[in-house]
Amino acid sequence: PGSAAGPLGLGGPVVYAHRGASAYAPENTLEAIDLAMRLGFVWVENDVQRTKDGELVVIHDDTLARTTDVEQLFPDRKPWKVKDFTAAEIARLDAGSWFGEEYAGASVPTLRQYLDRVQRNRQRLLLEIKKPELYPGIEEQTLKVLGEAGWLDPRHVSQRLVVQSFSADSVRIVHGLRPDLVTAFLGTPPVADLPRYAEFTDRINPWHTTISADWVAAVHGLLGAHGRAMEVDTWIVDDAATARKVQEMGVDGIITNAPDVVREAVGGF
Ligand code: G3P
Ligand code: CA
Repeated sequence: PGSAAGPLGLGGPVVYAHRGASAYAPENTLEAIDLAMRLGFVWVENDVQRTKDGELVVIHDDTLARTTDVEQLFPDRKPWKVKDFTAAEIARLDAGSWFGEEYAGASVPTLRQYLDRVQRNRQRLLLEIKKPELYPGIEEQTLKVLGEAGWLDPRHVSQRLVVQSFSADSVRIVHGLRPDLVTAFLGTPPVADLPRYAEFTDRINPWHTTISADWVAAVHGLLGAHGRAMEVDTWIVDDAATARKVQEMGVDGIITNAPDVVREAVGGF
């Protein structure tokens, strides 16, 4: 089932380590992508937001409370929004202890630090621009940082990087700025609306509970922004039965906190 080409023409299904191997290490940390590498996973997913002083950082929630010790260090700064803290303040936070004492001292990485590590690990990146409505201009800024870190070289940009967002506007902006970059829209547009998305993106990435084999086939039936059949990467699938179910539906990739469980169930890389 599914298209033979797989994401980026590499053959599928691709198994993406969501926020790193986040079932086993604190999400969106360098430790989580290192663990994904040790488990043998090439593709990692992350979430990018921006600090008060304009540094891009890798974190999922728009507040620091759930995944750091910010409440102890800065008790008076409720509700601890990422955008209200400087990069230097965020660098002081412990982003590992909440998950397990063995990860005490892990930090919230800047995007630059994160890209360096992904590159050093020879991994590939599904980068999510998170809550772009909070961060005007974050699309252009993200591309600038990617470019400075060597990720936009036309010779391999389409082999190791996908930029995704729940915001269609954000995906459209990224596509307009760098038409050679592979992008994905996070969501499940109705079949009738899919051709509109095909104008500016290559992949549609839905929550697994929202899809059917017919919907996946409808996506596959369209040519995306780069003239190839559009593809589907679904999330968050952490158990074998669901992994097999979405594979039956024909998805091209599975985004998971437990990549080892998914690979054991459906293969992939
Ligand atoms: O990559 C898909 C997934 O990350 C989307 O949801 O909330 O985990 O960023 P979320
Ligand atoms: Ca994400």
